[in-house]
Amino acid sequence: MCGIFGYVNYLVEKDRKYILDTLVNGLSRLEYRGYDSAGLAIDGDKKNEVIAFKEVGKVAKLKELIDESKVDLTKIFDSHAGIAHTRWATHGRPSRLNCHPHRSDPNWEFAVVHNGIITNYKELKALLEHKGFKFETDTDTEAIAKLAKFIYDQHPDIDFPVLAKAVISELQGAFGLLLKSVHFPHEVIAARKGSPLVVGVKTAKKMKVDFVDVEPAEEGVALPAERASQNVALKNSNSLLAPPDKSLLHRSQSRAFLSDDGAPMPTEFYLSSDPSAIVEHTKKVLYLEDDDIAHIHEGSLNIHRIKKDDGSSNVRAIQTLEIQLQEIMKGQFDHFMQKEIFEQPESVVNAMRGRLDLENNQVTLGGLRQYISTIRRCRRIIFIACGTSYHSCMAVRGIFEELTEIPIAVELASDFLDRKAPVFRDDTCVFVSQSGETADSLLALRYCLERGALTVGIVNVVGSSISLLTHCGVHINAGPEIGVASTKAYTSQFVCMVMFALSLSEDRASKAKRRADIMEGLGKVSDQFKEILKLDKNIKDLAKRFQNHKSMLLLGRGAQHATALEGALKIKEISYLHCEAVMSGELKHGVLALVDEDLPIVMILTRDDIFAKSLNAYQQVVARKGRPIIICNPADPEFPSEKTDKIEVPPTVDCLQGLLNVIPLQLMSYHLAVQAGADVDSPRNLAKSVTVE
Ligand code: F6R
Repeated sequence: MCGIFGYVNYLVEKDRKYILDTLVNGLSRLEYRGYDSAGLAIDGDKKNEVIAFKEVGKVAKLKELIDESKVDLTKIFDSHAGIAHTRWATHGRPSRLNCHPHRSDPNWEFAVVHNGIITNYKELKALLEHKGFKFETDTDTEAIAKLAKFIYDQHPDIDFPVLAKAVISELQGAFGLLLKSVHFPHEVIAARKGSPLVVGVKTAKKMKVDFVDVEPAEEGVALPAERASQNVALKNSNSLLAPPDKSLLHRSQSRAFLSDDGAPMPTEFYLSSDPSAIVEHTKKVLYLEDDDIAHIHEGSLNIHRIKKDDGSSNVRAIQTLEIQLQEIMKGQFDHFMQKEIFEQPESVVNAMRGRLDLENNQVTLGGLRQYISTIRRCRRIIFIACGTSYHSCMAVRGIFEELTEIPIAVELASDFLDRKAPVFRDDTCVFVSQSGETADSLLALRYCLERGALTVGIVNVVGSSISLLTHCGVHINAGPEIGVASTKAYTSQFVCMVMFALSLSEDRASKAKRRADIMEGLGKVSDQFKEILKLDKNIKDLAKRFQNHKSMLLLGRGAQHATALEGALKIKEISYLHCEAVMSGELKHGVLALVDEDLPIVMILTRDDIFAKSLNAYQQVVARKGRPIIICNPADPEFPSEKTDKIEVPPTVDCLQGLLNVIPLQLMSYHLAVQAGADVDSPRNLAKSVTVE
C-alpha cells in the first residue's frame, strides 16, 4: 500500500541536489499509492554515514523538510545509491518514526523501504529483541533492517546478495523492498514477493543487451535447510547463525552494461513500484518477478532466485515502455481524476482497438483465444473483484447470463475468501482489477488456482501480479490511472467484459441479432461519451444543490443498480458525502422513510424493459415531496423539463446504458469534491492500490 523508489548512479557524476530531486520526484509520481508520510535515505558526507529525511503528510512536506535542512546540496557523488518511500499506514500510525526508510541501528548500517506486509514480523521482532536489538517503531518493516544487521554481524565477509537472500528467506507475507547498507556502498538490493517492482536502466551509450540472466540459485548461497522454517529459526535461533556456504559465494557473473571495449559503462538505475515514476528517465525497464532478488552493483544488475529450480523463466527481458510522460501528467486539467474522466472517449476506443471488428461482426480477444472453447464448456463463471472493479462485474452480469447461458456469480474477493466459497476444476474464475495488485483479489486468485479452476484476468496494469498469475486474460488498455478514484478503468473493464461475453456467444446462432446490436452500440460509445461530457457545466451547477448536505440517495434498478453502486462509491470516496445506492425496487421496503423535500436524491431512469417499475419508485419519491435529479434519455415525456432537474444521456442498447449513465455520476462526484474543498486525487484514508487484506 505504498510506493517505493530508488536511484543508483554508477560512474555518472551527480550532485546531492540532483539525487534528492530525483528521489522526491519519483515519490511524487507514486504518491497515488499512499500519501500519509514519506521518507528517503542517501549517503552522508563522511564514509559510512547515512542521511535520512522523514516527514508526515504528502511528498511536498518531505520536500519542504529537505529544503529547510542544512545538508550540503553541492556535494558530488560519482556513484551513489538512494532509496525512498511514500507510505499508506498499515502497521503503526502515520508518524515520523513509523515513516520509511527503517534502520537496523542508530548508525543506519542497513536501511530498508518496503511495500506490503511481513506477516511473521512479531516472531522476528521477538527473536531480534532477544538478541539485544531495540525496536523504535510500530512497523513490520523495521524487522527487515534489523535482521540484515543481525546476520551481517555474524558473517561480516558475506556479500550483499547472499545476505539479502538470507534475510528474505526468513520473511513471510508480501513485499517489494529496497535495501541499502553502509557496508555495501553504492549497491542496492531490490526484492519482490507479491508487490510489484520495476527496474529502469539508463546507459551512457546504446544498451546492447535486451535481457538479464537470472542467476541459478546455486550461484547464490545455499542456506541451511532449517533456515527456511520460521519455527525452527525461532526455537533455535542459532539457525540464523549458521555459516553460509562460502564455497558458493562470489561465483555469479555480473550482467554488466558494458561499452564496446568491454569497459564499465556509466549507468543509472531507477527502481520503482511502477513505471510511471521511471518513464521520464528511461524507457528501458525490466519487471522483477516474485522471489527475484536483484542486486545492483558497479553498473551491473544481477538477478538471483530465492529457491533453486522453481520453474521460473531464467531471463528477464528488458522491455521498452510505451507510456509517455504526458500520459501521466495532468495537462490542462485541474486533477488527474478530471483528466481521466475526460479521457474516456479515447480509453474505450483503446479497449476495443484491434478487437472489435464492426464490419464482420466479430470480436477477437487474443489473450483468451486458446481458452474460449474451454470457458464455453465450464459449469459456471465467477467474477471476483473489489470496489469499483466489483461494480463493473455487477454491471455486466445480466448480459453474460443472457449471451452465454452459463450460471454467473459475482463475488467480492474478501467475502469470497472469508466464506471459503466452493470452487471446482470446471469453474472459470475471472479476476477484474485495475491495478492487478489488490491483495484480496490476489489471495482469491491463489485460492482458485489451488482448486484447479481456470483463471482469467481483466487487468489494466501490464506485468501486474494478477496478469502474470492468471491462465489467460485481457488487458483493458485504459492507460495509467493516477486519481485514486477509478473512472476510466471502470468503463474500459465494462467494455472488455462485454466483448468477452460477445466472444463466448459467437457460436450461438440464436444470439446473432442481439450480438450485432451490442457491437453496433459499442461502436457508438466513444461519441456518446463526448456528448455526455459536454454536460459538465450543467452537472456542476446541479451538484451545487447538494452542497453542505451530509447524506444522499442514488437509485437504480436492474443493471442500473450497479451504476448506482459505482456512482455512490465515487461520491463517498472523494467528496466524503455519505451516499447510499438503493435498488429502486427496495425503496418501499424501508429506505422510503428517509425521503423528504430536503434529502438529495439522484434517480437513474433511462429506458429499458423494466422502466415502468423504475417509474414506480420515482412516483413514490415525488409523492413524499422528494425532488430527485433524474438521469434519463433526451426528451422523455415522463419527465417534463419545467418540473424536473435532469441530466439527459443518449439511449443505447440496454446492456450498454450503464456505461453512459455512469459518466454524469463521475462528474457529479468530482464537482461535489471540488466544492467541498477535498483533495480529489488523493482522498483521505485511501490509496490507489490496496495491497493489504
Ligand atoms: C474506487 C476504487 C477502488 C478499487 C478497488 C479495487 O474508486 O478505485 O474501489 O476499485 O480498490 O482495485 P483494483 O481494481 O485495482 O483491484
